Amino acid sequence: ATAVKTLAEAQGRYFGTAMTSGDVTNSAESSVAAAQFDMVTPGNEMKWDATEPSRGSFSFSRGDQILNWGQSHGMRVRGHNLVWHSQLPSWVNSLPTNQVQAAMESHINGVAGHYRGKVYAWDVINEPFNEDGSLRQDAFYKAMGSGYLADALRTAHAADPDARLYINDYNIEGVNAKSNALYSLAQQMLAQGVPLQGIGLESHFIVGQVPSSLLQNMQRFAALGLDVAVTELDDRIPLPASSANLQQQGTDYGNVVKACLAVPRCVGISQWGVDDGHSWIPGTFPGYGAAMFYDANYQPKPAYNATVAAL
Ligand code: XIL
Repeated sequence: ATAVKTLAEAQGRYFGTAMTSGDVTNSAESSVAAAQFDMVTPGNEMKWDATEPSRGSFSFSRGDQILNWGQSHGMRVRGHNLVWHSQLPSWVNSLPTNQVQAAMESHINGVAGHYRGKVYAWDVINEPFNEDGSLRQDAFYKAMGSGYLADALRTAHAADPDARLYINDYNIEGVNAKSNALYSLAQQMLAQGVPLQGIGLESHFIVGQVPSSLLQNMQRFAALGLDVAVTELDDRIPLPASSANLQQQGTDYGNVVKACLAVPRCVGISQWGVDDGHSWIPGTFPGYGAAMFYDANYQPKPAYNATVAAL
């Protein structure tokens, strides 16, 4: 069968995955990934806790491992991520507020500077919003207010002028309070010349619950002149997965692919992992799993066949 990356490339898109250090050193998993995908996002290895575990002390070995693995298989890399409230080392939360801006800028300069010219895109800001559309009151917001968002993007742009700079979040795939807030923010940023180039729709779906407004939502961000990307696709199913749910998952995957292909500025889709045996879902959402398009034996599921059919 033709690889999903080949089908995506024929449509001017990429089809990517997320890989951790454990994934790239698993020979069965990494060979399936290398055959199928043309974009890789490090699952954890470029996050703040991995890259700057103590102040001013940078560590790029694991991030480099994913970058090198991807490059050696002809893949591009989505950098993930620079500023996020989670997987943030405790030293950042312990800083006096008047030192947080300098620490954030130094982190962005250190990490985006190290990867300058090597990554296709950065999720500069990850998950900044609450569900009601307000901004999370994290260390960055407490220190700088909403201005931290533009400051982070400007700092990242100076550190790596060629990387496509994204805001990435979940539950913004459909039109709702959270995506409306992001839409307003993006509009304001573009009016102010802030270097924002893309919106990442994480797309951690529950089977049968892909929002019907996904296409409309992608279209409105694209109409602002932004790229959109499906950055972390998975579609979790209550375990044990019924065959009806596996079929529905195929419908869901097909609908996501069709929406992206219908929007010229939708640049690509990344699944958040390779197979059901290594997905983050069962560990984070107890009772759920089977969220990938490959099963734990790397066999294609209905979601894989639907993806191929839609591409
Ligand atoms: C997840 C990883 O897959 C897990 O291994 C880790 O324990 C927690 O983070 N949104 C994101 C990703 O932007 O970075 C998260 O990745 C999943 C949710």
